[in-house]
Amino acid sequence: MGYEMAARLAKGGCDVAVWNRTKAKADPLARHGARVVNELKDLASRDIVFCMVSTWDDVKEVVGKLLSGSSKPKMVVECSSISLEGSAELRELLKQKGIEYLAAPVSGNAKVIKAGKLTFVVSGPRAAYDKAKPYLDMMGTGSSYVGEGELARIAKICHNVMLGVVIQCLSEITILAQKTGMRRHAFLDFLNKSVMGSMFTRYKTPALVNLDFKVTFTPRLLRKDLDLGLDAGRELEVPMPLASVTRDLLQTMIGHGMSEQDFATLILMQAKASGIDLKPENVEVGDGLSS
Ligand SMILES: NC(=O)c1ccc[n+]([C@@H]2O[C@H](COP(=O)([O-])OP(=O)(O)OC[C@H]3O[C@@H](n4cnc5c(N)ncnc54)[C@H](OP(=O)(O)O)[C@@H]3O)[C@@H](O)[C@H]2O)c1
Repeated sequence: MGYEMAARLAKGGCDVAVWNRTKAKADPLARHGARVVNELKDLASRDIVFCMVSTWDDVKEVVGKLLSGSSKPKMVVECSSISLEGSAELRELLKQKGIEYLAAPVSGNAKVIKAGKLTFVVSGPRAAYDKAKPYLDMMGTGSSYVGEGELARIAKICHNVMLGVVIQCLSEITILAQKTGMRRHAFLDFLNKSVMGSMFTRYKTPALVNLDFKVTFTPRLLRKDLDLGLDAGRELEVPMPLASVTRDLLQTMIGHGMSEQDFATLILMQAKASGIDLKPENVEVGDGLSS
């Protein structure tokens, strides 16, 4: 995700410097004009630092290293999917150092970013948002400002609870349709053209039809987001029955050793549980993203 976000800023003409733990993965960004640095503290003198890693523990680690020298950025925009508590701790830490902070998690995968369709949900001081907005716009189709503090975190968690529930539902109904004798591509063609079709159902169609499971997002990361949703539900006394069942299905997947593959492989588990030996249909289907 971070790679494609940085590529869009660099291609858009911004003065971009990048750090990645495994430097070799970031090196190709140099051909778009980005400067790939060796140490995180080399980014500390930038105006805005965008952070895109995995979990709150990772964010804490990288921000600690970023601020380990004498320089500090004017603003940090944190885009990973993390908890409200982690985000609030980061806000406090940055506030003490006089650094502006926006919580800005995203919707979309690396291919979505490439297609220019990434979206952000943002919270924090309005003035900071106004400064960051042109860069957020450059990375996708825009951002939704939802208010002060960590509100963007809960919006993103709600979004990903829906992501989990929808992919499980898509897997169930696609296998049900197949078991009646229908081809998966024919069923999904209908669904995608219907009022229930979405950018998401369209871009997951090649995976469900041709079993093209290039990793976009892993069951492990999705389980983390469902856990964050369920934690918030418990704290706020909101029942979340669909999220609970989906979380346990992901847990089962992880228990079967399917933790680092694409989350759309949920359909393989669904097929197995339905007595179907799933085969690619090898039919050309669009993902709604490629032009
Ligand atoms: N993929 C999606 O569809 C998607 C969509 C929306 C939001 N998100 C969220 O966006 C974030 C990134 O997701 P992703 O799919 O890009 O994950 P990813 O492919 O696993 O990449 C994670 C990145 O974080 C770095 N990283 C992780 N832990 C680190 C640490 N302790 N110190 C330094 N660097 C560390 C990794 O560095 P290395 O290269 O060295 O491993 C890598 O660059 C996650 O919070 C995820 O939940 C993902």
